[in-house]
Amino acid sequence: MKRSEFGKAVRQAKLCVEEETLWGETDVHAACSVGTSAKKQPVRTSSGGGEPATLDELKAKMRGCVKCRLGKSRLNLVFGTGDPKAGLMFVGEGPGFDEDHRGEPFVGRAGQLLTKIIESIGLTREKVYIANIVKCHPMIDPSDPEKRGNDRPPAPDEAEACLPFLEKQIELINPKIICTLGNSAAKWLLGMELGITKIRGKFYEYKNTMLMPTYHPAALLRNPSLKKDVWEDMKKIRSELKDRA
Ligand code: URA
Repeated sequence: MKRSEFGKAVRQAKLCVEEETLWGETDVHAACSVGTSAKKQPVRTSSGGGEPATLDELKAKMRGCVKCRLGKSRLNLVFGTGDPKAGLMFVGEGPGFDEDHRGEPFVGRAGQLLTKIIESIGLTREKVYIANIVKCHPMIDPSDPEKRGNDRPPAPDEAEACLPFLEKQIELINPKIICTLGNSAAKWLLGMELGITKIRGKFYEYKNTMLMPTYHPAALLRNPSLKKDVWEDMKKIRSELKDRA
């Protein structure tokens, strides 16, 4: 067996174990046979396959997702983390190498900076909610998830496939404010093509929720002079959260 085939078989086995843990042996894919091309049965949710009523149900619904190519190469689903009833929700672009390995958003260098940004307004990662436009790692070379520097932005069809999950996630969390990080997140949630430099620092409306676009922490790592703008944006968010407490 080639190395890439072995990696694929291991990932497939991992998915099966995840689902078995969640649903019990009788409810998992009828065909979890590693190395076969047998078709998967649909994954059931505890709400009987209807609309997920909780974040856990939504996450369960996404476990075997292969709505786009990213579901086939990812190591872990990076669903989101934080308080399911958070007043403030951050939305980034998509998981990178570190996030794919840990199954948690923003845990690499950009994530460490995001943690500091959150703490700068007196909050913690546990008190906010952090998610991404896409829940699986977009890779330049999808055959090698172990390669660093293999990250890319999500393609439009990948973002479109994943957007309904984010929309549901936002609906369930019902935050007071959404803060989008970088171009992609603002573009997909607001449908705006204008660059982040032009739109950041102002509140917009996303389905009756206030949305503030700001720079992505990865941009701050490349260009630290942008930090002061993000600080200004965070102060506006802090003040708005206080008014709505
Ligand atoms: N960049 C993102 O947009 N999201 C992550 O989760 C990590 C890095």
